[in-house]
Amino acid sequence: MLPQFFTNTARALALGMLALPLAQASFDKGLDWISTNASLPKVVIYSARGTILSASNYSRLDNVNYGAGVGPTPQELIGNVSEVLDVAQLAVVNFDVPGGSSGLNSSLYLNISQHANRQLCAEGSDIVGAIMFHGTNTLEETASALETAFGVDLTFNCSKPFIATGAMRPDSYISPDGRSNFYQAVAAAVSPASRNRGGLIAFNDRITSIFYSTKLNANTPDTFKSLEQGNLGAFLGGQPFYYFDAGYPTGRPYFDITNTTELSSVIVLYGHQGFDASLMYAAVANGAKGLVLLGPGAAQVSPSAQQAAADLFSKGIPIVAVARPVTGTGVPDRFPGAIFYSSYVGAEQARIMLQLALNAGLSLDEIRNVFEDPLRKAVYGSWASQQAYY
Ligand SMILES: *[C@@H]1O[C@H](CO)[C@@H](O)[C@H](O)[C@H]1NC(C)=O
Ligand SMILES: *[C@@H]1O[C@H](CO)[C@@H](O)[C@H](O)[C@H]1NC(C)=O
Ligand SMILES: *[C@@H]1O[C@H](CO)[C@@H](O)[C@H](O)[C@H]1NC(C)=O
Ligand SMILES: *[C@@H]1O[C@H](CO)[C@@H](O)[C@H](O)[C@H]1NC(C)=O
Ligand SMILES: *[C@@H]1O[C@H](CO)[C@@H](O)[C@H](O)[C@H]1NC(C)=O
Ligand SMILES: *[C@@H]1O[C@H](CO)[C@@H](O)[C@H](O)[C@H]1NC(C)=O
Ligand SMILES: *[C@@H]1O[C@H](CO)[C@@H](O)[C@H](O)[C@H]1NC(C)=O
Repeated sequence: MLPQFFTNTARALALGMLALPLAQASFDKGLDWISTNASLPKVVIYSARGTILSASNYSRLDNVNYGAGVGPTPQELIGNVSEVLDVAQLAVVNFDVPGGSSGLNSSLYLNISQHANRQLCAEGSDIVGAIMFHGTNTLEETASALETAFGVDLTFNCSKPFIATGAMRPDSYISPDGRSNFYQAVAAAVSPASRNRGGLIAFNDRITSIFYSTKLNANTPDTFKSLEQGNLGAFLGGQPFYYFDAGYPTGRPYFDITNTTELSSVIVLYGHQGFDASLMYAAVANGAKGLVLLGPGAAQVSPSAQQAAADLFSKGIPIVAVARPVTGTGVPDRFPGAIFYSSYVGAEQARIMLQLALNAGLSLDEIRNVFEDPLRKAVYGSWASQQAYY
């Protein structure tokens, strides 16, 4: 027995040190397992920091100007939520979070995905799942959690759970959401029911698909939602309950990024009344290899933008149109056209998907198929009623 005055953290770390060091396999290399029970399943924590590891130096009510305080390290968080060690053995990998104009920066998710593939998907790996901490864009973390999570989701090559989580309140808040989110993400990562679903978000007692989720509130804990496709499950007593059997989002592509370190630039433009289509040429002149256009209604693109799109398409630049409303989609034309419709993929996700498709060396037709194929087949396929079109 350990003396009672040991803090949770000290207890966890002390017990972790008691675990016998075993010869490490390649997928295991460099991982230090924090463990109180060597029979428990292994889960890796990929930490890109964020509010979950932050604290205010003002008061327990501050969820606005925090970040300057000293928040917990991942190891300290494990100590503070020591129940996680009753369900899993944990190892932490820390990632640098780019600041500044990181909207363009893809190295973070490429790096996390490469770690995840190497550590979870390698032959014989006994790691059952991974969770990722990530900033939710408050204060200094300018990298978007959704973009990072989506990038990993499309490049992660096995059925094991990859679960993104984080917090909207700093750890110093009177009731921080990060601790609960952390426990729930670990519980989901060890659950066999979480497999074969693609990347997941565990946040605020709910489980959603990364592929379909968006961030709907800039301030409150109930922020990551998949409005149209719904929740996949909820947490009860800390444990995940799924409403449906396992399945992947329709048409979710997979891209191999084993040897990729950088992706080409894809720019998102917001279509509106009086949209200036010369911005599309300007983006390409500045190095964009693809464009994402948000169009009002069902991704309606103005006549001048359509003209520019056709012109740029003929020069090899793919242009993906995304519906500006929060839900719904632009519907692909009956015959393949110069503008590709994103289906139910949102704008920030469409940008990542287009970058990955370009990186894979796909032709324009293949890129169009990545975005449009499932929806085109549903609407115009031979089994669909053609009454509306003939
Ligand atoms: C360790 O974990 C295994 C598997 O969950 C469980 O059966 C066993 O009771 C645990 N041992 C202790 C000492 O808690
Ligand atoms: C909190 O940190 C900020 C930034 O470092 C500093 O300006 C401020 O004085 C600190 N406040 C307290 C109460 O320590
Ligand atoms: C969390 O862990 C830290 C580091 O061990 C400790 O100082 C702090 O008191 C803990 N907080 C709570 C609320 O348990
Ligand atoms: C990838 O992440 C690892 C672990 O944090 C770090 O050591 C390495 O420098 C990162 N590589 C790049 C290219 O960012
Ligand atoms: C991404 O950010 C890292 C760290 O800030 C930087 O070294 C790298 O050059 C950036 N890559 C791109 C493509 O902007
Ligand atoms: C893994 O990669 C193969 C070949 O690249 C691909 O066919 C398969 O769908 C991928 N599996 C997952 C789960 O992404
Ligand atoms: C990545 O690079 C390695 C070593 O050069 C090579 O064997 C492998 O086929 C490459 N994989 C991909 C998907 O390009």
